[in-house]
Amino acid sequence: MESAFTNNRYAFFLLSLLLLFSSFSSLKSAKTHNHDFVVQETKVKRLCKTHNSITVNGQFPGPTLEVNNGDTLVIHVTNKARYNVTIHWHGVRQMTTAWADGPEFITQCPIRPGGSYTYRFTISGQEGTLWWHAHSSWVRATVYGAIIIHPQEGYSYPFPKPNRESLITLGEWWDANPIDVIQEATRTGAAPNVSDAYTINGQPGDLYKCSSQDTVKIPVDSGETSLIRVINAALNQQLFFTVANHKLTVVGADASYMKPFTTKVLMLGPGQTTDVLMKADQPSARYYIAARAYASAQGAPFDNTTTTAILEYKTATSNPIMPPLPAYNDTTTATAFTTSFKSLRKPIVPTELDHNLFITMGLGINQCPSKTRARNCQGPNGTRFTASMNNVSFVLPSNVSILQAHHQGIPGVFTTDFPSSPPVTFDYTGNVSRSLWQPIRGTKVYKLKYGSRVQIVLQGTSIFTAENHPIHLHGYDFYILAEGFGNFNPKTDIAKFNLVDPPLRNTVSLPVKGWAVIRFVADNPGTWIMHCHLDVHIGWGLATVFVVEDGPGPLQKLEQPPPDLPVC
Ligand code: C2O
Repeated sequence: MESAFTNNRYAFFLLSLLLLFSSFSSLKSAKTHNHDFVVQETKVKRLCKTHNSITVNGQFPGPTLEVNNGDTLVIHVTNKARYNVTIHWHGVRQMTTAWADGPEFITQCPIRPGGSYTYRFTISGQEGTLWWHAHSSWVRATVYGAIIIHPQEGYSYPFPKPNRESLITLGEWWDANPIDVIQEATRTGAAPNVSDAYTINGQPGDLYKCSSQDTVKIPVDSGETSLIRVINAALNQQLFFTVANHKLTVVGADASYMKPFTTKVLMLGPGQTTDVLMKADQPSARYYIAARAYASAQGAPFDNTTTTAILEYKTATSNPIMPPLPAYNDTTTATAFTTSFKSLRKPIVPTELDHNLFITMGLGINQCPSKTRARNCQGPNGTRFTASMNNVSFVLPSNVSILQAHHQGIPGVFTTDFPSSPPVTFDYTGNVSRSLWQPIRGTKVYKLKYGSRVQIVLQGTSIFTAENHPIHLHGYDFYILAEGFGNFNPKTDIAKFNLVDPPLRNTVSLPVKGWAVIRFVADNPGTWIMHCHLDVHIGWGLATVFVVEDGPGPLQKLEQPPPDLPVC
């Protein structure tokens, strides 16, 4: 036991040295990219109607950031909109730079209207596709864009160089002000209205009114191979994605390389990215690229429309061919896809654990508080929707961020008693007794010493209704060792763990009525939120925070806060 522990620590030390060395050797080619992001109201016309949408620099979707692994980004954000805003660099590890992570009231106070803040961070050890988005209320409905990370200069992809590269960012559009939609839901306690369209690079496509003249075209040339980077930036919906008549070879996800596998259909939860190679090996013609919902919750309303773009062979003018898409509730196809990922290179997965957490995740229902008006309790049978992890519905602080409170030792902002297992054991995915539907509220965090090796069993619940949840952890990539349906059973399920080549990701699709197991080493000091990436669930409290302490070494400490860090 002792020696395995020491060996593991020793391997970890060696690995850190190696990483340090490789980052020094790359310094000569690393660049710094400066950008100005002006968050502002912009007229955007979709579905026949013009809205004053919040955008970055008047662009929708926002600007694409293109960098090499090892580069530094300095992004000066000015808020000229009438809402609070913060920007999160989704999937960027932010080693020792938690101040630049972005989630409102977790690592910073919001940038108030008229305010500004400069985010400064370095991309290290990540290659592929990530993205950025607002992390405040529902502003991210229109404030998002891609981050493309090429290999370091002088290095190449671990697959044959593609002839071209294309970007497909999937989004979700309301024919209304999305902030009004969520504010209305917060008032009523009911679920917010579902969206009116999905979009590809901001455009709904041919199957919606007033949209076909702007349908996105993706050009290809016969015989060429394209690297297509797909991002699910939708607010609240997992999406199936396919290209008519073409096979897709997955080579990466969440800015990590994967062992290539071929599929007709992708499924991405909000937050996830998938890089695929696609050979233009079909007759010269036009083919639809299409995405629509994977809706796993039984009986819950969802937007059942389909967004399209056109894959266009040079000079082809024919009517586009429409692909079949999986049924909305096709969990079999979703699962076959999510369980196909394997790390390309042999990873170092921690085998000894310092923390083994079991966290239930799902919805809940609050009884209407006494003296509350009926119009504020329009959830099922006069209730209000909520959600929780281990029966705690997460409440954001409101006058200081958790990171500031942690760094400056401000008491009374959070408590460190987030439970490592649910307060009671029950049949999580069965018929859950109503007495367990109402969680407690709190700003409870879980503390981790620097370098601790953490396993989390994520266990979905059927409280009110079961559904698939895309669970995202800030500041880390984690290995997904296994996933399955029903209640996690250590006696039988540990045997299913992949410790050889598990995928490394920042967002895991927690199966509907199922579980997933992840591992990571807490080597990044700061305060890191873990939450469901369906924005409707964040507001209901489907989140918690890990507070990771500084390590002893010089590169293991949280930096000092930038001087322009917004105050509350
Ligand atoms: Cu892309 Cu906290 O999320």
